[in-house]
Amino acid sequence: MSQMIPTQPSREELREIGQRLEGQTPQDALAFALDQFFPSIVLACSFGPEDVVLWDMMYRINPKASFFYLNTDFLFKETLDVRDRMVAKYHLAPEQVIEMKPDLTPEQQAEKFGDLLWIRQPDQCCQLRKVDPLTRVLKNYSAWVTGIRRDQAPTRANAKLVEWDAKFDLVKFNPLAAWTHHEVWAYIRANEVPYNTLHDQQYPSIGCTHCTGPVKPGEDPRSGRWQSSEKTECGLHK
Ligand code: ADX
Repeated sequence: MSQMIPTQPSREELREIGQRLEGQTPQDALAFALDQFFPSIVLACSFGPEDVVLWDMMYRINPKASFFYLNTDFLFKETLDVRDRMVAKYHLAPEQVIEMKPDLTPEQQAEKFGDLLWIRQPDQCCQLRKVDPLTRVLKNYSAWVTGIRRDQAPTRANAKLVEWDAKFDLVKFNPLAAWTHHEVWAYIRANEVPYNTLHDQQYPSIGCTHCTGPVKPGEDPRSGRWQSSEKTECGLHK
């Protein structure tokens, strides 16, 4: 795998690379991704279990790698605590931890679109507070890395280890696509990776404060997201 993939690889090329990576470990996929794209590659980090695992793996391969987080202004305190524990554990430089904020503060959003937009128009709220800032940050890179796993949701069942992201026009790596929830947590425990303590309190999947609730044991882990609507995805992933 020594050949460089071009910045705009064809779907066919990406499919072939994806098939080659399929039987390999997430670390192999990440090593390949970093080898081909660093420094034009970044991890999208929500501080969820998959993302902290990916960060630990990436850091071991290239300690100069970086991640961004979409700070919607509605993140749990426990989520931001993970950021602080990661900065301390890995001795991260400020340029490795990129904070992306929406254009509008919550107050400006309420003034322009009315209060409680997340209840009235959750898609619009996600667009303003997550998707627009994501679009801005991804313009600086040729590839991004996400924590998508196939068994998280039917919408993710076909996620590839590497694919062309037609929505944002860059290469997308999902190194944990084939991993299970159990494998993710085994890695966290074995490597003492910092994680969100809300996961110990029935919050398996965590987004914004207004749109995330606890789930009962045995329920779909993503059922705590957008509990008051039919919505299952916020628009970062097709
Ligand atoms: S979401 O689309 O429903 O919010 P989910 O929480 O499952 O997604 O996260 C899937 C992946 O999207 C994460 O592993 C991460 O790569 C990316 N992601 C989600 N939320 C954020 C965020 N706030 N900042 C950066 N990346 C995020």
